[in-house]
Amino acid sequence: MNSPLDSAIAVADAALRTLFAKPHATRPTPQPESPSGPLNDAERREAGALMRVNHVGEVCAQALYTAQAAVTRDAALRAHFSEAAREETDHLAWTVQRLEELGARPSVLNPLWYAGAFGLGLVAGRLGDALSLGFVAETERQVEAHLDGHLDRLPAADSASRAVINQMKVDEARPENCRRRPRC
Ligand SMILES: [Fe+2]
Repeated sequence: MNSPLDSAIAVADAALRTLFAKPHATRPTPQPESPSGPLNDAERREAGALMRVNHVGEVCAQALYTAQAAVTRDAALRAHFSEAAREETDHLAWTVQRLEELGARPSVLNPLWYAGAFGLGLVAGRLGDALSLGFVAETERQVEAHLDGHLDRLPAADSASRAVINQMKVDEARPENCRRRPRC
């Protein structure tokens, strides 16, 4: 069992890494079957805005899992949430990379988004593990729906962003990810 100080340090470390360190993916960035065509300025801006929102979603996912790992008294569930956060780091890294390629920047409000999602994660965690898992399931369902919407809105020529979003969707639907949800 971690001491409160250990937990506080782990939480602060996770927050600082998510917000200020360059994330490292364990898998290569998904590549499109055919390379992206040229994007005009408006298309590049639109793609950048969509990938910025996706990046915010990944920042919030990190905050949510970290908070729930910190709050649960169930060691197996804590390990589960910590593992989920590690898996999601690929998505964080891919969206950062795509933002850079598009010449776009992450949201300057990311510390606020992180704090908000962390607070929600704490509240959900304190309401009990079943509710906490239900909250994650609903959040991930919303994220998947969101990704679908982004696939529709991305400029047709931006196959590189599309490849990243498609793989993120596939990851969310993987059986091992389903195991952390009460229904899947
Ligand atoms: Fe993700």
